[in-house]
Amino acid sequence: MIPRDTIDTIISTVRIEEVIGDFVVLRRRGVNMLGLCPFHNEKTPSFTVSPAKGIYKCFGCGKAGNAVNFIMEHEHFSYPEALKYLARKYNIEVEEEEQTPEQLQELNEKESLYNLNQFAQQFFSRTLLETNEGKAVGWSYLRERGIRDDIIQKFQLGFSPSAWDAFSQHAAKNGYKKEYLIKTGLSLEKENRLYDRFHSRIIFPIHSASGRVIGFGGRILSAEKTHAKYVNSPESEIYNKSKTLYGIFFAKNAIISKDNCYLVEGYTDVISLFQAGIENTVASSGTSLTLDQIRMIRRYTTNITILYDGDPAGIKASFRGIDMIVEQAMNVMIVLFPNGEDPDSFARKNHPDEVDRFIKENAVNFILFKTRLLLDETRNDPIKKAGLIKEIVNTIALIPDGISRSLYIHECSALMTVSEQVLMVEMNKILRARLKKSLKEEGSEENEIIPEPEVIAEPQKDFDTDSPGSQEQEIIRLLLLYGQDIIHLKMDNAADTGVPVMVADYVVHVLLRDEMVFENPVFGKIYEFYLDGVRKDAIPDRNFFLTHPDLELSQTAVNLVFSPYELSKNWYKNNILITTEESRLLLHVEHSIHAFRARKLEKMMTEIRRKLANAETAEEQTILMKQLGELKKQSIRINREGLGRIIIK
Ligand code: CTP
Ligand code: MN
Repeated sequence: MIPRDTIDTIISTVRIEEVIGDFVVLRRRGVNMLGLCPFHNEKTPSFTVSPAKGIYKCFGCGKAGNAVNFIMEHEHFSYPEALKYLARKYNIEVEEEEQTPEQLQELNEKESLYNLNQFAQQFFSRTLLETNEGKAVGWSYLRERGIRDDIIQKFQLGFSPSAWDAFSQHAAKNGYKKEYLIKTGLSLEKENRLYDRFHSRIIFPIHSASGRVIGFGGRILSAEKTHAKYVNSPESEIYNKSKTLYGIFFAKNAIISKDNCYLVEGYTDVISLFQAGIENTVASSGTSLTLDQIRMIRRYTTNITILYDGDPAGIKASFRGIDMIVEQAMNVMIVLFPNGEDPDSFARKNHPDEVDRFIKENAVNFILFKTRLLLDETRNDPIKKAGLIKEIVNTIALIPDGISRSLYIHECSALMTVSEQVLMVEMNKILRARLKKSLKEEGSEENEIIPEPEVIAEPQKDFDTDSPGSQEQEIIRLLLLYGQDIIHLKMDNAADTGVPVMVADYVVHVLLRDEMVFENPVFGKIYEFYLDGVRKDAIPDRNFFLTHPDLELSQTAVNLVFSPYELSKNWYKNNILITTEESRLLLHVEHSIHAFRARKLEKMMTEIRRKLANAETAEEQTILMKQLGELKKQSIRINREGLGRIIIK
């Protein structure tokens, strides 16, 4: 358990734009900040962060919340995990005693896996730098490959001893459970004994975007082919290979500032380029690129440059993955390294400035690159050339933006000596077929490009709308926005200036008097807090709701508070324009309660009319008629009473 006052410290310290800024590129837009939503796929930013209110909302997918909610949602953390993450980020101490094995057991599973990985990383680092074997075998290997000590430190490289179970033993001695040793894959079980998966290997810890160790890659030292060159952590609750990019934690700031992400294949490519000062580099770790990985990059930039070690077969195999990048409206460039060099070996042989220059000078646009490569293969073969046209146009048709598409059609037509007209016809065929298909599957394909409106639609609720629940919602919004503001009420015989009361006091008073209840359970829950607050003379403030641990509650509050709501400037009373803030607030409060009440009455009357239509005996009918009459009277009364009891200062 994290103590309440620590939670309060965390919540009052965090700045939402900094928390979200670790994952999303945000740009100022008036008082708010705007970026591409990390929770759904979009081309036009509709993810809005309000630093002043400490909340975010995506106007595309509706996700909303405070900084804690964001971390929970984004990192798939529990509430305490998210708080601990934020505490770490802001150096806030969370008082928790040294963990005994028993307490470890209590920690939830994911946290245990993270803890164990961190423990392992420290063990491997110490082994590399402080033990005789580590220094003689591991460190000298890295040194031979030209990796500097500061880079070893930065990437937390390590070494796992050659003994079969050195780490497993060490972990067991420190209270780490077998279950987690196996789940993280650090240990393997054979005949009831634990062995180290990574023994005798150089260790490359794999970090999440937020810097936690989620897995490991281990490289063998010898060149012999009897063992796999690399072994990697298995998939676990915290490590999902297809959603991971090696190096993202170290690269993300450089990716943002350079507005470009270099994509390489291996751990050592990332490390060598970083050492050469090229820090905006991540690796797909030998697998073909996945949509999740592309989206991860897209949080930071829309430009990807793929650095290849120049083997045409390998390049062709990856065309499909590159098409996926194109489809995400990203620009893809390709750099080929000379004669079988990979970025790592190239960086080792050349001066850093030379590496940088080489990449910049040799980057070619992917579509033009693909066209040229395939053109080389089909030279003078008209049948193959027809296939090539289809192939290229297929890729171009993936580009979501029409203007870019026609630019590529133009360029490729020149390259292939085919008329633009021919390419256009071919492309339109593909586009039409795709449209048909997407209409059929209507929204089922997550991957589908849905054109998004340029303007962010504000879900501004007109407060006279008749949709069910909108009156309830309006009352709650009013409480959240103005609950603690003072209004002056004219009571019978009270002084001319009226009696000052808080809006929440007044609203609760009236709703209690009229026995009004909320149907929507979340609104009801929020209202209960106000009810309780009025009774205890401690009305909760807005932040109480915005940062409430009950996710449903806090998100509802965020949603209501977020809309740029303003009291109408055009209130009239007795044909006089109401000008002061408070007067407008008064009218608004009255009006909202009124609408709520009217709606309730309307519902009750509808219900009685329904019963009346089905009533079978005259007696039943009489009773219902009487009830209906009562309600009608009430309705007339409240309509007449309307705003009359309020005075305007
Ligand atoms: N890889 C792997 N398992 C293997 C081989 C490769 O997981 N058996 C992954 C690793 O992430 C590796 C990447 O694929 O970094 C690229 O493989 P490769 O080019 O063979 O290795 P390098 O990173 O170049 O390593 P080194 O330079 O040490 O040979
Ligand atoms: Mn290599």
